[in-house]
Amino acid sequence: MAGLLDGKAALVTGGGNGIGRATALALAREGARVAVADYEGAAAESTVAAINAAGGQARSLTGDVTEEAAVQQMVQATVAAYGRLDCAFNNAGIAPHQVEASGQPTHAWSERSFDRLIAVNLKGVWLCMKHELAQMKAQGAGAIVNTASIAGLIGLQNACAYVASKHAVIGLTKTAALEYAKEKIRVNAVCPGFIRTRMTEQAFETRGMVLRAMTPQGRAGEPEEIAEMVVFLCSDRASYVTGAAYQVDGGWTAM
Ligand code: NAI
Repeated sequence: MAGLLDGKAALVTGGGNGIGRATALALAREGARVAVADYEGAAAESTVAAINAAGGQARSLTGDVTEEAAVQQMVQATVAAYGRLDCAFNNAGIAPHQVEASGQPTHAWSERSFDRLIAVNLKGVWLCMKHELAQMKAQGAGAIVNTASIAGLIGLQNACAYVASKHAVIGLTKTAALEYAKEKIRVNAVCPGFIRTRMTEQAFETRGMVLRAMTPQGRAGEPEEIAEMVVFLCSDRASYVTGAAYQVDGGWTAM
């Protein structure tokens, strides 16, 4: 049976863990050749090994999405390997606890924590889009999916830069969707709720019951449940979908 993404070439950032890893595997399962990029080279290689073991095609890339030269290299390496770039999942991101801002209300954040979080979650997405869009424009089509969050739609306490970055990712998504709609490039965002990954391990340990209680489905999401939305948005089945931000959150934002 044909895969939804047969013949397509994809790039996934933050593909070494969590949502990015599950999505790289799902894109490959649907027939895409996948460049798996991650700051942690060994994690990217582990995802590639899992894809290859399942009969897919993948290669690993490393680099920090906050550095333009590294991002340009990721896009160039994908195109050098696969000849084009049809789908891009801009997903690398960090949470407040990864910039020493865990549990901090807005006035308590340090400038350093704020700047780093914005650099990864916002500037990183823009840099990826900048280089992916140039390639997609040159080849005449493409689909981009950015990882926002329910924090791109609502406020969350003690997460000011995170919430701001994710709202901004939705803004970037809508802007690029408008700018490139006539060039057959679709740009969408996915807004996960609380998903069981390394990023949320600590939160589930300390506040798992509260988080489950805040989710109408009463459970955490799995990375694979985000991956399926990304596969759809990357595929030609989503041909009339652009500028959208889809919640995959067990009903969280319906409340
Ligand atoms: P994770 O920590 O499991 O994976 C993130 C990956 O991104 C890691 O492999 C990490 O090495 C990579 N990364 C981080 N900074 C990077 C950089 N500067 N350059 C290149 N790679 C970098 O986290 P998870 O949960 O899979 O998160 C993925 C995305 O989903 C993030 O953008 C996050 O904000 C978003 N998200 C996650 C939710 C969750 O509940 N886990 C909820 C909503 C959004």
